[in-house]
Amino acid sequence: MKSSHEGSVTFKSAEADFGLTSALGKSRSDIIAEISKSNLKGRGGAGFPTAVKWNLAAAAKGERKYVVCNADEGEPGTFKDKVILADCADLVFEGMTIAARAIGASHGILYLRGEYAYLRRSLEDVLARRRDRKLLGKAIGGKGDFDFDIEIVMGSGAYVCGEETALIESLEGNRGEPRNRPPFPVDTGYMGYPTVVNNVETLAWVAMIMGKGADWFKKTGTEKSAGSKLFSVSGDCERPGVYEFPLGVSIAELLKEVGAEDAKAVQVGGASGVCLPASQFGRKLAYEDVATGGSIIVFGPNRDILEVAANFLEFFVEESCGQCTPCRIGNYKLLETVDMLRKGCCSMNYLKEIRGLCESMQLASKCGLGQSSPNAFLSIIDNFKDEVMGR
Ligand SMILES: Cc1cc2nc3c(=O)[nH]c(=O)nc-3n(C[C@H](O)[C@H](O)[C@H](O)COP(=O)(O)O)c2cc1C
Ligand code: SF4
Repeated sequence: MKSSHEGSVTFKSAEADFGLTSALGKSRSDIIAEISKSNLKGRGGAGFPTAVKWNLAAAAKGERKYVVCNADEGEPGTFKDKVILADCADLVFEGMTIAARAIGASHGILYLRGEYAYLRRSLEDVLARRRDRKLLGKAIGGKGDFDFDIEIVMGSGAYVCGEETALIESLEGNRGEPRNRPPFPVDTGYMGYPTVVNNVETLAWVAMIMGKGADWFKKTGTEKSAGSKLFSVSGDCERPGVYEFPLGVSIAELLKEVGAEDAKAVQVGGASGVCLPASQFGRKLAYEDVATGGSIIVFGPNRDILEVAANFLEFFVEESCGQCTPCRIGNYKLLETVDMLRKGCCSMNYLKEIRGLCESMQLASKCGLGQSSPNAFLSIIDNFKDEVMGR
């Protein structure tokens, strides 16, 4: 993990369980009020305000409630959560415990990507140490009304299982297929109980915010995108890796830091994100401009942009769960169109029809996979017109 500006990575500066100690001295509503004041938005991609989700779960009626940490990390080009779990697992478990206190949950589940099985033993060790220190288990912090423990469940190996309702289905032992919403997990989640699902990084920031305060967090970032964020940077650059940048950093600044100033294109947000050309490198990585869960894939001057599009679409054809037609058929049709473009036999009229198909996919797909899978295709045909049509 590398920091861009301040020299040290924020998560590594955390004082052990400072956030949890502070949370235990507050009422449930004051914990949520502090997170609300910080303007923390989910770091898993959708950017949903964390406090809004917690408030809904806190208000929901349920015999028991759950906090689920989403460590499925299946978006192509994303590997920041793996690094957080390897280097700062205590902070993530601390964040889950704070979330549990805030919503009144007694059970926590870390849904760990199947490929990260090698982390499981060290994560179990961290959990055991936290139990020994009475930071998990019965009456945490001496609070008779606060029992909470965390178990680790391995992911099922499909990208769509990272979508929160598919994740819950998978936790319940079913096929990992997204559910219809409403009801939302905050009302009817795991086993029908109110459930908060948060990303690994979101929960680590929760612990930092409770320790250092909402005002400290808001000092970094922009008005609409508070705080810093971790970015997984890969592709054609000299220094790939996990970087911390304040939200609002421009793509050009990031490329300079990672040694990729000659980049031809950058895919922001993984396969479901957008592909931007050099003319747009002045844009900001922030919820109000180019939003992202943190995946940055750099493409150098010699990359074939249609090969990039084909690669992403092959991924979606493979990973669509097949429940709804726009996604199941649409991704296949988009891949077919890229093949036509590569052969130089796709007319403008056909491309116009395909744009209509993209709109249908965005509007009518049941989950974020089908709603966002046309993004890369559309941004490539719009931003790289000469290369795409000039064959
Ligand atoms: C196809 C698909 C895959 C997803 N994969 C992940 C993932 O691996 N990790 C994650 O945190 N969120 C993932 N999400 C987003 C989750 O549904 C959910 O919004 C997120 O876990 C909420 O956490 P946050 O509010 O802290 O960001 C995915 C969404 C979709 C549609
Ligand atoms: S959009 Fe795709 S992945 Fe999501 S439910 Fe429909 S078919 Fe499945």
